[in-house]
Amino acid sequence: MNPAEHPSFQAVLATVRGKVQNYLDKSDEVIAEVARTAPVGVSERMTKLIARKGKKIRSTILSLIATSSSEPADESRIAHACAGIELLHLASLVHDDIIDETTMRRGERTAHVEWGNKVAVLIGDYILSQAMCSVINEKSREIPLTLSTAANSLIVGEILELDNAGDMNLSRSKYNAIIEGKTAALVEASAKIGAIIAGFDAQRIEACGKLGAHFGLAFQIIDDLLDYGIGATNLDKAKFTDISNGLVTLPLIYYFESVSAEEKTELQNLLKRAAEPGVPEEICKRLETAGAFEKAKETAMQHIADAMEIADSLPMTEHIESLKTFLYSMTERGN
Ligand code: FPP
Ligand code: MG
Repeated sequence: MNPAEHPSFQAVLATVRGKVQNYLDKSDEVIAEVARTAPVGVSERMTKLIARKGKKIRSTILSLIATSSSEPADESRIAHACAGIELLHLASLVHDDIIDETTMRRGERTAHVEWGNKVAVLIGDYILSQAMCSVINEKSREIPLTLSTAANSLIVGEILELDNAGDMNLSRSKYNAIIEGKTAALVEASAKIGAIIAGFDAQRIEACGKLGAHFGLAFQIIDDLLDYGIGATNLDKAKFTDISNGLVTLPLIYYFESVSAEEKTELQNLLKRAAEPGVPEEICKRLETAGAFEKAKETAMQHIADAMEIADSLPMTEHIESLKTFLYSMTERGN
């Protein structure tokens, strides 16, 4: 593959984000105002957290869909919806980093490393509450409902993941339920909210939700591959956190499905020693040889293809073309 012909995920994201930059900037202003006007103890910390810019994948998808109908786009409405999505995402990451005990996020020290678990939990709670407040004046009741339903799914997905941590026999269906909850639900909500703002009918809103869910599933499967360093370029977080935390993701599920009982036991023993130097690399070697990474990548690609098929059924505006380019670029994601 010639890299010149296939711009990186980051490059495509930057271009596509540029198409809806005004909405994202306005959303940043809404978020900055929330942080600025927060009480002492929260304001400074939240300001620090929001200065660490994320990729804004979810609000880009929301804005692209929201501006893809013939209805005139309402900048403030889109900006507040994006703020709700980004704040919910940020709150979940603050909590996730406590749960996963990770020390780096967006290239910086995580909130709990900086301020301790107790304060970080509460900062996450404040941000979650403000996510819901961002859409409180929304004229469609469906939008706050969709956002809070997504929050519930994130929590349930995360609990399911914890309840199954260390289960070496995790099934594919359970893995899917985990990633549907912890990741796909928020992208689904973003696409759905975009579709509601666009004024689409119920069937199309549902289809956009599915598009977001497929994209979210692909995103998480690729994230799980990046955790092994597979396809990674300039990764801004630590590798091998999943195996260190006893989390079984798709490559391991495919590996266990394809090898003998002895090989399975050998790998389980290696996983118990995942913290020792050289062991994660040995685990990677075995998964690579068994084609487990390749198979997980193919599953991610299938979800992208399913999302693309739905995108093809939407009104083919410039922004939906951009959305399609972006969906496709996920196949090149390296961080
Ligand atoms: C990242 O997964 C985690 C999530 C996307 C969701 C986390 C959800 C919660 C902690 C529960 C909900 C919390 C709130 C405040 C609603 P990962 O650990 O696989 O990815 P990573 O490598 O980026 O950490
Ligand atoms: Mg994590």
